[in-house]
Amino acid sequence: TSSPPSLGLAVESLECGGRTGSVKQQLAKLFEGSLKVIFPEEPNMEPLIAVCTAKFGDYQCNNAMGIFSKIKGKSTAFKNPNSVGQAISRHLPPSNIIESTSVAGPGFVNIVLSSKWVAQNIQNMLLNGIDAWAPILSVERAVVDFSSPNIAKEMHVGHLRSTIIGDTLSRMLEFSNVKVFRRNHVGDWGTQFGMLIEHLFDNFPNWEDTGEQAIGDLQEFYKASKRRFDDDPSFMQRAQQAVVRLQGGEARYRNAWKKICEISRKEFDLVYQRLGVHLEEKGESFYNPYIPKVLEELSTKGLIEESDGARVIFIQGQPIPLIVVKRDGGYNYASTDLAALWYRLNVEKAEWIIYITDVGQSQHFDMVFSAARRAGWLPDAKSILYPKTNHVGFGLVLGSDGKRFRTRSSEVVRLVELLDEAKSRCKAELVKRLEDNGKLKDWTDEELENTAEAVGYGAIKYADLKNNRLTNYTFSFDQMLNDKGNTAVYLLYAHARICSIIRKSGKDIEEIKKSGKLVLGHADERVLGLHLIQFAEVVEEACTNLLPNVLCEYLYNLSEIFTRFYTSCQVVGSAEETSRLLLCEATAVVMRKCFHLLGITPVYKI
Ligand code: ARG
Repeated sequence: TSSPPSLGLAVESLECGGRTGSVKQQLAKLFEGSLKVIFPEEPNMEPLIAVCTAKFGDYQCNNAMGIFSKIKGKSTAFKNPNSVGQAISRHLPPSNIIESTSVAGPGFVNIVLSSKWVAQNIQNMLLNGIDAWAPILSVERAVVDFSSPNIAKEMHVGHLRSTIIGDTLSRMLEFSNVKVFRRNHVGDWGTQFGMLIEHLFDNFPNWEDTGEQAIGDLQEFYKASKRRFDDDPSFMQRAQQAVVRLQGGEARYRNAWKKICEISRKEFDLVYQRLGVHLEEKGESFYNPYIPKVLEELSTKGLIEESDGARVIFIQGQPIPLIVVKRDGGYNYASTDLAALWYRLNVEKAEWIIYITDVGQSQHFDMVFSAARRAGWLPDAKSILYPKTNHVGFGLVLGSDGKRFRTRSSEVVRLVELLDEAKSRCKAELVKRLEDNGKLKDWTDEELENTAEAVGYGAIKYADLKNNRLTNYTFSFDQMLNDKGNTAVYLLYAHARICSIIRKSGKDIEEIKKSGKLVLGHADERVLGLHLIQFAEVVEEACTNLLPNVLCEYLYNLSEIFTRFYTSCQVVGSAEETSRLLLCEATAVVMRKCFHLLGITPVYKI
């Protein structure tokens, strides 16, 4: 059935701009076509397509029951859900995607995909690149606010989680052709700078030339100035005045502030470099000039009230109001976030704004979003309209004692040291492994370094991302660096093994991509093929629900399904060699894309 589809918009837009969307989206278009024919007076019926849970099909359409209960009594055209299902199935526009359909008792339409189409789809991806499998999302511009450590304070494991999760979500959105603003909302403004600056002036008179070396350890510097602030009332007073002079724009104070920010930034960058994470800083200070105007607007709209000398916004259902001007007249975290939200909506014109912090801040964001809704900046909470905002909360990182992850001396863990340890452990492990199998001589030192880095950092990221982000997880090098089980090490090695199968075949895979033909003959080949083509909808789901673990689960299952295929189907030297090499290559390509989206560097040999 290759005749052109005759049914309107839905099917035509299938091939819009060469992007077809996920299999689910493609099936949805077909079912939308059918629903439109059967129910022309109900134009916006949304097709409900899901992966089939029973073995009667690959996917299923779940609309019949809902439709029947809606039209029952109003129309006599259908006597039960099953007959609705039958009609849906009968009116499907012709397509080469679907091999056959069957209707189950209560009207579920089971869909068996054409194996030929699945194979062609995979070959098409191999020829045109995995971008052909990017999902189509309904947003074009998004802000992802992540990492966001505080100047002069330690960047802790919470910020590490935010960095890892935010980077992954940004990557997935970017892959889905969304323009992403990767925002580092660093805490670079606030009253703490008063004490930091005065402490700098007192103790480091040459700070302008030597600042960095002199200050050395910025966390120690912070603690020392905090001690003085707490213990010495006259210092406290000076610090408070310093805040006023800094905010008034006095040059010496501005410069000192800049210097402190610079030193912090360099330290943060060490972490970002190791993790390969790219961010664009717009810190709290950036939004400061916008605050008065924004608060004025909110005030005009009647949102701001006086309470206890502070100016606040009351939010329905919240026990405490959102303070937007403190009693001393100063602005705070909330006023900055309101201004930032205003800026993101009106200047950056973002349709989706995503904030990534620990769950502890969810009340803050709830209140900011509610205020924005009251101001009419955002549509109703239950609405599916844009712009929309989401707080992506995450749980704690725990130590082996089940408490918040700390070093032995109960200090916060230094991220750079953590990352370095992951790398050095991996290197030691790798060297031992290669010594054992006599392969160490085949490796240059650079290769060892790069592999250790990829595996070590990848392990930390994957251990974080594989859990539902809301759960706390225990940080354990032993667990995350295990080469068995659901770890990055296992997955990276699985990928390297597939690459070596292809290499050892001695065949030119680029050539085979063009001349060979992929056929899904064996049942395990078909299962693998089916899993491969679900890639786009998995990314789509991970984006829509802001859940990176969905992609991790897919990746882990992919490697398991590949193993099953490889166990039952001989590749090299078999009659199906060409086809099976293509399947190996497709698996490797999809695995690599998963790694890429998770911010993990793949390795090709082990
Ligand atoms: N600096 C904050 C912290 O360390 C996180 C900022 C999150 N972003 C925001 N727009 N509030 O907790």
